[in-house]
Amino acid sequence: MPSPREASASLQSKMDDVVNAVDKTIRKLLPETDLHEDRLYEAMRYSALSGGKRLRPFLVIHAANLFNVDPRRSKRVAAAIEFVHCYSLIHDDLPAMDNSDLRRGKPATHIAFDEATAILAGDALLALAFEILADPETHEDPRVRIELVARLAEAAGPHGLCGGQMLDLIGEVEEFDVGTISRMQRMKTGKLMAFACEAGAILGKSDEPHRKALINYAYDLGLAFQVTDDVLDVDADPEETGKPANQDEQSGKSTFVSAMGKEAAQMRAEMLVQQACRHLNMFSGRADTLKDLAEYVLQRRA
Ligand code: IPE
Ligand code: IPE
Ligand code: MG
Ligand code: MG
Ligand code: MG
Repeated sequence: MPSPREASASLQSKMDDVVNAVDKTIRKLLPETDLHEDRLYEAMRYSALSGGKRLRPFLVIHAANLFNVDPRRSKRVAAAIEFVHCYSLIHDDLPAMDNSDLRRGKPATHIAFDEATAILAGDALLALAFEILADPETHEDPRVRIELVARLAEAAGPHGLCGGQMLDLIGEVEEFDVGTISRMQRMKTGKLMAFACEAGAILGKSDEPHRKALINYAYDLGLAFQVTDDVLDVDADPEETGKPANQDEQSGKSTFVSAMGKEAAQMRAEMLVQQACRHLNMFSGRADTLKDLAEYVLQRRA
């Protein structure tokens, strides 16, 4: 049994590998151009190559590894999901939404460029994600490609991220109970993480029970992740998180912290992480990397 310290050093090196692999793939997918509209590409590159933990790519790549998927495939899907995530962050930071100036320790895209360019860069990253999934280079089997496209559409649209973001804004004027907050966070954060894990299973043509187990793991992890995001908003410095502190309270958002307090929220996250890891027991040890990631989500300061 490795000590917790060794486990976390080995997780860190796996996380670094994902960051490097995804950065390389994104650079290839978003090359520098000398087109007249290059400003759009520049804003897309600014957002997509500005750091970030690359957790969703980590989920895709390590879920796909469970089924021995060719990494050239999983890296493309990882980049596509990261593009959707980056689009959501660009739009989330806009004055009409969370009005945040700082993202990943740098000026948000609408500050570094302008609002119109930021909106277009977000839209373009979202569209490009689907273009990547529909490309035969991602998978030669059209059934796999169409399934990836359909599941990402579900995760990003009104049943997922956009619906969750709508609830998030309504939650500034209405005070939500814990059940409604859980549903909102499942949609805005959980769905894309669930797709990241499911994509690994789709690429690997997994059987239904293993695919379901990965999805259930990701929903619990996604919820725990959003609980810790809400805790870090009141508990961490911008130097740690790379984004402004106390934003949720200032805008009167309904969060796990506003509904149950910081300590109870942290305990909820711990319970969710234990639950997430139990779903992976059917992989009997082969999914330990995903379990380690769940532990990291609890302890993260960024
Ligand atoms: C921030 O996500 C947005 C939420 C869903 C809470 P991350 O914390 O994964 O952001 P990056 O990609 O590491 O910057
Ligand atoms: C954003 O949630 C979730 C998205 C889908 C972008 P938050 O608004 O809490 O994310 P941060 O704190 O700005 O990263
Ligand atoms: Mg928000
Ligand atoms: Mg925000
Ligand atoms: Mg937040």
